[in-house]
Amino acid sequence: MAIKNIIIAVTIFVFMSCTQQQSGFTPGEIWKDDKGVHINAHGGGVLFHNNVYYWYGEHKIEGKAGNKAEVGVHCYSSTNLTDWKDEGIALEVIKNDTLHDITAGCVLERPKVIYNAKTDKFVMWFHLELKGQGYKAARSGVAISDKATGPYTFVKSFRPNAGMWPINVQDLHKAPIAPEVKNEYCGGKGCLPAHPDSINLLGRDFEGGQMARDQNLFVDDDGKAYHIYSSEENSTLHISQLSDDFLSESGNFIRIFSERYMEAPALFKRNGMYYLIASDCTGWAPNAARSAWAPNIFGPWTELDNPCVGEEAELTFRSQSTYVIPVQGKKDAFIYMGDRWMPENAIDGRYIWLPIEFEEDKPIIKWMEKWDMSVFDE
Ligand code: GAL
Repeated sequence: MAIKNIIIAVTIFVFMSCTQQQSGFTPGEIWKDDKGVHINAHGGGVLFHNNVYYWYGEHKIEGKAGNKAEVGVHCYSSTNLTDWKDEGIALEVIKNDTLHDITAGCVLERPKVIYNAKTDKFVMWFHLELKGQGYKAARSGVAISDKATGPYTFVKSFRPNAGMWPINVQDLHKAPIAPEVKNEYCGGKGCLPAHPDSINLLGRDFEGGQMARDQNLFVDDDGKAYHIYSSEENSTLHISQLSDDFLSESGNFIRIFSERYMEAPALFKRNGMYYLIASDCTGWAPNAARSAWAPNIFGPWTELDNPCVGEEAELTFRSQSTYVIPVQGKKDAFIYMGDRWMPENAIDGRYIWLPIEFEEDKPIIKWMEKWDMSVFDE
């Protein structure tokens, strides 16, 4: 009898350990999915749909080469934001057509998914760099699916807002472009010889469409969706309203924070105010985060301080923003979602998720070794 009891106890213990749910967040540690594998969804974003959270991100592979898209966009699902089920690859890169926009080996970064109630479709936007062209293409990609988890079908890639002027365009942008400016190519990720307006990058790219690299999506309470992207050689952010089906830009957009080189933008809304968390422009290396707010999505936007405080705040706790998650069912509960990139072994990238506090309505992020949802009850 005693032996039988011991066997039962051991069986229960083993079962419990195997199915053990993660009870909270441990930023920077290995984060295992339901199969026991470190989550592979970098530069990601989260969609909440029908009581389920979906996390989409870049699927990386081992080594330095793993920064390129060899697989596609990985999707996970969860009901509590801590335990994630592997839902597989939502958007696969194309393996049998080297000329395809999203052919394997392209750069496909910062995928985000939103749901369009009118069309009943899930729409994914991502930053695309064509294979073999470094970061020169600076395009936006769009894919669509009937199901949150995919499979997503590639629709198109392009440079946004071709032939459109932003709401806050200045006369100087409309002036004829000198040929040497028109042909100017600024390599790398954000080094310009002068202020972006003095070489009129907006005007330079008017016809062909604006450059779009680090990007995010935001859906407002009224159902309108916005695309925010680092443009004009990363010098300037654009916030651009999407068309009703979320598949294109509407042509209604603004430029903000010109010459601030903001990357990794994440928009959210709290008590009617719009907030932005972003980073500086230093590639995979971490830097100090930026924050800003506005009473209206189209401005005026005011820059606030580095939202991070405490040790390593100047490095965003060795992370870079990728999304801000509004926690459902809790008031004023937002999670900063960041990446601790590991460029030498991309698949080992870690996730830094931290609660956002508000002091005088301004966002504050503090390091926490371990935390759980109860922080939002305090
Ligand atoms: C970062 C950017 C990442 C990736 C990286 C490549 O600045 O936020 O998404 O593009 O540069 O160097």
